[in-house]
Amino acid sequence: MSYLSTVQDVYRKAAEAPDASLCCVPQTPRYLPGLQIPRVMHQMNYGCGTTIHLRDMQEEQRVLYVGVGGGLEALEFAYFTRHPGGVLAIDPVAEMREVAATNLQEAAELNGWFDPAFVDIRDGDALALPVEDDSVDLAAQNCLFNIFRTADSGDNGKTGDLERALAEMRRVLKPNARLVMSDPVARRPIPDHLRADEVLRAQCISGCLTYDEYVQQIVDAGFGSIEIRARRPYRMLDRARYGLDEDLLLESLEIAAYKVDVPVDGPCVFTGRCAIYTGPDHNFDDGQGHVLVRDIPLGVCDKTAGALAALGRDDLTITDSTWHYAGGGCC
Ligand SMILES: C[S@@+](CC[C@H](N)C(=O)[O-])C[C@H]1O[C@@H](n2cnc3c(N)ncnc32)[C@H](O)[C@@H]1O
Repeated sequence: MSYLSTVQDVYRKAAEAPDASLCCVPQTPRYLPGLQIPRVMHQMNYGCGTTIHLRDMQEEQRVLYVGVGGGLEALEFAYFTRHPGGVLAIDPVAEMREVAATNLQEAAELNGWFDPAFVDIRDGDALALPVEDDSVDLAAQNCLFNIFRTADSGDNGKTGDLERALAEMRRVLKPNARLVMSDPVARRPIPDHLRADEVLRAQCISGCLTYDEYVQQIVDAGFGSIEIRARRPYRMLDRARYGLDEDLLLESLEIAAYKVDVPVDGPCVFTGRCAIYTGPDHNFDDGQGHVLVRDIPLGVCDKTAGALAALGRDDLTITDSTWHYAGGGCC
């Protein structure tokens, strides 16, 4: 049996009875004015962060949400799109689709503005999306892609499932549109004995990559600009229970990846770093398109931060990654 069948079994059960131990990070539930969220949707929050960011929302968007779960984030996206079919939610697990539909019906009873037709729930698979090329304004997935195996993890042939899932997202996005994701990453590689455990993998515990590997997968899929919007503790795998030499921290990552070409000198990855010029002139121009106004921090990607640091100037300060990039800056 393929590990993907185990994944579907785990989520079939999680549809039948909410499982509070699946995913989730300690966070205050989001408040959106005029939105009442059914309690069961909170109980079925199987994400490890959020893909809902105000800065992504625009009118008349067509949103694709892959892995619907209990429907919480599909409802939240629908809060912004507010038109029939504005959110297309894909899930291969029939029980999960059914429970999401029931939960959305309950949401309609609580929210006069909401019509369940705003979310079109369809059978489908992240690995072969039933969606046309270049047709989606905003795509999202929360805590699904960490489950997928990569090409180098064994039995997937040349293209791994994670590579396929990312390629599918890129295919369906319109040019310049963005993919918003939330997934766990590991502080160091997860050992093989845990990676091979299909249930732990399905539960978003043992399939995740390191931060560097995860970002590289996104770049390799052809996303040229990436924002790290949050990075925070998610789970501790303790050495006694998980058979490890040392405890291993998993972190929850929130990320946006843009369907723009990868620049020849490498991707732009924004991790919250800034460059600040404090020299005698009004401006500092690095000749590469970055103009720093004296004393004013400019958000820079890691590539630019590295290039500016390499100049070795004592009138340039490069700040560390905050892992909470909030927009603006170079590129
Ligand atoms: C960890 S849950 C996350 C649910 C939801 N995104 C949330 O944040 O609550 C993973 C979801 O992906 C669905 N899923 C499993 N395999 C999938 C696949 N191959 N393609 C798309 N969705 C899948 C599961 O049924 C489940 O709804």
